[in-house]
Amino acid sequence: MKKILVVFGTRPEGIKMCPLVNELKKRKKFDVKVCVTGQHKEMLNQVLEVFDVVPDYDLSIMKKGQDLFDITINILDRIKRILLNVCPDFVLVHGDTSTTFATALACYYLQIPVGHVEAGLRTGNVFSPFPEEFNREAVSLISKINFAPTERSKNNLIKEGKNPKNIYVTGNTAIDALQTTIKETYIHEELNWVDDSRLILITAHRRENLGEPMEHMFRAIKRVLLEHPDVKAIYPIHLNPKVRDTAKKIFGNNTQIHLIEPLNVIDFHNFMNKSYLILTDSGGIQEEAPSLGKPVLVMRDTTERPEGVEANTLKLVGTEEEMIYKSFKELLESKEEYEKMSKASNPYGDGRACEKIVDILERELK
Ligand code: UD1
Ligand code: UDP
Repeated sequence: MKKILVVFGTRPEGIKMCPLVNELKKRKKFDVKVCVTGQHKEMLNQVLEVFDVVPDYDLSIMKKGQDLFDITINILDRIKRILLNVCPDFVLVHGDTSTTFATALACYYLQIPVGHVEAGLRTGNVFSPFPEEFNREAVSLISKINFAPTERSKNNLIKEGKNPKNIYVTGNTAIDALQTTIKETYIHEELNWVDDSRLILITAHRRENLGEPMEHMFRAIKRVLLEHPDVKAIYPIHLNPKVRDTAKKIFGNNTQIHLIEPLNVIDFHNFMNKSYLILTDSGGIQEEAPSLGKPVLVMRDTTERPEGVEANTLKLVGTEEEMIYKSFKELLESKEEYEKMSKASNPYGDGRACEKIVDILERELK
């Protein structure tokens, strides 16, 4: 039986890889082992609990305020032993985090073939998002099988010279996860607080937005909230202390916004489903919102998810205060603009990406 090692380390990788781990285990065609790097700790544990995945190995690398050197060096150092001990026939990584890059690099050094889930996303700007665009491009240089979520991501890889035979369009496993979490009957005490007000859901964490851009983002949001007493906002803050400090500094005494701890994925998906609109710089939320028909103002200058922009669900609003202020205000005040953005569409597959990926692995890894 061939041995597959699945490696991930952050919340979004967990949300998109746990359903795949469970599908792999259900089929019983491979010896499946899971290694978490521990790049995230509490935020990943929440995900593992929801999907009932127990890692076989944990590199436990997280330290408060880690920088890119800490993450990369520690993973590279610690995963070498795991790879040498486990001797996997194939390693699966996801997306574009430093966990993904360092794991793929270690596999390359040891000549272990890598499968890349969520391959082929590109902004074309290696500094935006930073360092994710570099990470995913680097993994594409060495990946043996590429699971692209859309035709567009497949074409991005072909343009870079990848052999089309090694690229499969599967949809995004985020949609698989989403199908198991949403319940129309969902209740939560924070939603009782929101009551009949329009709910604005906020997240922000990108490295390139830390500091001043994030202050601009939050100031713009606060101005709009103050002008619209009929809306309430919920912001489950990322555990990065730099994000938390800025959020508390700007929103601290505002009674229209609740700053809360990160939600587990079931809660978060249901909060999205109950929201009026979302303001975020997250990647994964840009994939989930279109199928829920929830307008998203993307507080970034670039996106690797143009499918959602074309579907009208996403609007790129940058990180300048005035632009965010105007766009947020317009979306609250113009019914027409809101309706244009709130039609459900699903550019990221039918929720069966994991099944497709495992079918392909069963064919390819005989
Ligand atoms: C990482 C990924 C980013 C992804 C994001 C998802 C890289 C370079 N960045 O960024 O692509 O979008 O995860 O959220 O791989 N922290 C905790 N507990 C946790 C998680 C984080 O305390 O469970 C704090 C730590 O102080 C840590 C900081 O958050 O130093 C930042 O975490 P880190 O993984 O370095 O970066 P993210 O911004 O989360
Ligand atoms: N999410 C969550 N709890 C939260 C905020 C987000 O479970 O409090 C989920 C969200 O539904 C999406 C993923 O986390 O699936 C996005 O993670 P994040 O924004 O941290 O990373 P990115 O997608 O930008 O890499």
